[in-house]
Amino acid sequence: GPSSELERAESLIAAVPDHPSPGIVFRDLTPLFADAEAFATVVDAIAAPFAGRFDVVAGLEARGFLLAGAVALRTGTAVVPIRKAGKLPRETVAESYELEYGSATIEVHREDVPPGARVLIVDDVLATGGTLAAALRIGERLEWEVVGCGVILELDHLAGRSALGSEVVSLFRA
Ligand code: PRP
Ligand code: ADE
Repeated sequence: GPSSELERAESLIAAVPDHPSPGIVFRDLTPLFADAEAFATVVDAIAAPFAGRFDVVAGLEARGFLLAGAVALRTGTAVVPIRKAGKLPRETVAESYELEYGSATIEVHREDVPPGARVLIVDDVLATGGTLAAALRIGERLEWEVVGCGVILELDHLAGRSALGSEVVSLFRA
């Protein structure tokens, strides 16, 4: 059933010591994405808690893109990329943040999502929460109605969830 499928999906996540820098245990989800059944299982499990409550899925570059397109297609909703700075060609709203191994700026096209749209934000990993917090600030500035955030894996020791004023659903914790 669904819970053993989820357990099998979780077992496909690789922990890579000292990547991208010493002391970081990098959680690599590519083996999970590379397994058709595990991929479908996590995509459906991310969407389920928010069923019927969103019209747009916003995915975070880069690994969140893989999830966002699939969740959107599976639920008949639209998809919008939240990109690293400098990639989007039209007018954007941008926010900067710190993460476990550096800092970054992400941005969204101002006109891709109308004010008041019901948006689900998705990513592969919640670590410090800096990335999702920045995405939520962008959503606020663009007057999205963010229904919540869905991630596959939450890294508990970094307490990222406490940085987020939004419903956060994670499938697995490490
Ligand atoms: C990773 C991950 C999340 C973010 C989580 O992406 O995919 O987006 O870090 O970290 P946080 O909760 O501490 O903000 P990364 O910034 O490495 O970018 P990439 O997906 O483009 O490799
Ligand atoms: N993003 C931030 N920290 C991470 C980690 N330890 N593994 C994978 N993605 C991350």
